[in-house]
Amino acid sequence: ESTRILRQNSKAPSRAPSVSGIGTVVEKPDYSEAKIVVAMVGLPARGKSYLSNKLMRYLRWLEYNVDVFNVGQLRRSKARTAMQAGKGKVDHSATYFSHSNAEASRIREQLANETLESLISWLKKEGNVAIMDATNSTIERREWIRHRVAQEPNLQLMFLESFCDDPVVIAANVALKASSGDPDYAGMSREDAERDFRKRIEQYESVYQTITEPDISYCRILNVGQRVTINRIQSYLQSRVAFYLMNLHLKPRSIYLSRHGESMYNVEGKIGGDSDLSPRGFEYAKALPALVRDNIGDGPLEVWTSTLQRTQQTGSYLPFEKKTWKSLDELDAGVCDGMTYEEIEEKYPEDYESRDEDKFNYRYRGGESYRDVVVRLEPVIMELERQENILIIAHQAILRCLYAYFHGKTQEELPYIKIPLHTLIKISPRAYGCHEERYPLPIAAVDTHRPKPKGKKGNTPGATTPGETKKGQEEAPQKDFNADSNAARDYFGDSAGKGIGVKAESVSRILEQKVKEGDIKPTALG
Ligand code: F6P
Ligand code: PEP
Repeated sequence: ESTRILRQNSKAPSRAPSVSGIGTVVEKPDYSEAKIVVAMVGLPARGKSYLSNKLMRYLRWLEYNVDVFNVGQLRRSKARTAMQAGKGKVDHSATYFSHSNAEASRIREQLANETLESLISWLKKEGNVAIMDATNSTIERREWIRHRVAQEPNLQLMFLESFCDDPVVIAANVALKASSGDPDYAGMSREDAERDFRKRIEQYESVYQTITEPDISYCRILNVGQRVTINRIQSYLQSRVAFYLMNLHLKPRSIYLSRHGESMYNVEGKIGGDSDLSPRGFEYAKALPALVRDNIGDGPLEVWTSTLQRTQQTGSYLPFEKKTWKSLDELDAGVCDGMTYEEIEEKYPEDYESRDEDKFNYRYRGGESYRDVVVRLEPVIMELERQENILIIAHQAILRCLYAYFHGKTQEELPYIKIPLHTLIKISPRAYGCHEERYPLPIAAVDTHRPKPKGKKGNTPGATTPGETKKGQEEAPQKDFNADSNAARDYFGDSAGKGIGVKAESVSRILEQKVKEGDIKPTALG
């Protein structure tokens, strides 16, 4: 029961079922030996939860079984239970966090203990990485964690400290906490909440000891993106975690994703290949610069394409520097490259069936699976984390994998994510996930999305992806697509760009202009 309360998100990555058939179904890599406790360290408002959640999404994307165990959440849930049982409101104002408050200190130790115990039992049973999201801000607390974990022969321990002295970032985090409807501050004004939270931080500051212990494994991050210190990193997985963290930054930015314009192969219903854009695809390519400029203003932008003609043609009108990545080439369909789905079904019926049965794991003969694509995209993700505003022009399967990384989608969902043609997707990092907007340009294109056949694993009839509308529905309701919390607000205090869909006014302006210039035929606008 307590595990259920503590674990932030019980959706564990799926295991590959075995599917018979000619097509290869490649099983999940065996990570059963990898078992790590990652204990966060840091004052409140230093982005510990942000880092915990980000690390969780990254490692889950790589198929590790990861969860975050949050001490504050357990404290709040116990307080709620006590209140519901008529025991009155538990005081969690700044005095609760004072080191000289002996009773509260005892309770906090108990909560930390309970969190650590459920985290350890989950790790022993099924997990690979358990992240303890707490302050763990004294040597004494860290020593205690160390001793407890050392009793478990197969568990490794690594501390992850977020040290931040950038007043702008701290102020943004304080404001976020005070305004996000955090249960600690229910019924309080924003000003009172901020005042109390700042007092709480002072209580912690009076006893805080940054990590210097020479004999423990740790990764200490100074002002995310500025400097990383690593000490006694012991295993492949630990170094992978450290490497990932070294590439992160917190500057506000957006990641724009677009498929290439409609290609000749798309029109013919063929997969793969290296065909040119169709005339409508070229219209999209020509309309893209104005749409992008409208979004980013005069700011700089990197543009990445694959090595295939259709993505390069799509980017060719953009006045920005472009980088070409082989890793962004479309999923390799092997012997099926250049065929239509109907031809594949006819020629390789068992393969076709196997792929429908388990699309993430299915590897085309002589080609790739979605899992293979995730693996080859890892360096892209690393470099992507280092970038500021960036536009990636790639392909349906590739963008599904990147999208799944940002939104924490499961393996069942990933191969069916809707990434329509002629649509610019804007993803902006937030405190607990990512916010998304979609800008579909009104230039017609074929629909290349094959829904999951009914009755197959992961089929969610009627489900729509963010920004998509069901037939007969006028417009998708405005939603916040934060993966983990509706209450989470703009991490950086920038509330611009709400909602989904076309900035209708700007797009019609672009299109009018294009029609005037003779770039687009008016008939294409419908
Ligand atoms: O149809 C366009 C395309 O990009 C193909 O080149 C590719 O094989 C396919 O989409 C990937 O989508 P799915 O995995 O749904 O077949
Ligand atoms: C908390 O209760 O919100 C918390 C983070 O606890 P601790 O500082 O004891 O880890």
